[in-house]
Amino acid sequence: MSNRTFTMIKPDATGKGNTGAILSMINAAGFRIVAMKMTKLSKEKAGEFYAVHAARPFYGELVEFMSSGPITAAILEKDNAVEDFRKLIGSTNPAEAAEGTIRKLYAASIGENAVHGSDSNENAKIEGDFFFSKLEQF
Ligand code: CMP
Repeated sequence: MSNRTFTMIKPDATGKGNTGAILSMINAAGFRIVAMKMTKLSKEKAGEFYAVHAARPFYGELVEFMSSGPITAAILEKDNAVEDFRKLIGSTNPAEAAEGTIRKLYAASIGENAVHGSDSNENAKIEGDFFFSKLEQF
């Protein structure tokens, strides 16, 4: 069954000019972009998006970083989208990411890790709806 995941190309990757290269890898891996926008999160919106991590020690740092510059948000469609996309991006910590993954190629640290990928179908829907109205999802 075809399904969907949500991604953000984070401020570090945007600032280094890696947006195009990352989108190219996403397309080459067979994902169809069904929604996309470049935007910048306020601290409030970044805090809301990552509210599930509010009790973690890195939450403040995460919110600061995610609101520090522009991002590209997108919804991606493919069979087994959530799991396959997490394989494509690699481990959260780039030091542990497999060769050829987006984080291995473009991430600098566990905080500045180039891309986000949803961890479940349920969260993919919540996260996609956070950024895109029904009229913006194709
Ligand atoms: P992401 O997939 O966007 O989901 C939550 C984010 O929190 C994660 O990527 C990391 O960027 C960040 N994160 C997780 N663990 C740490 C940590 N120990 N220190 C800083 N940031 C972290």
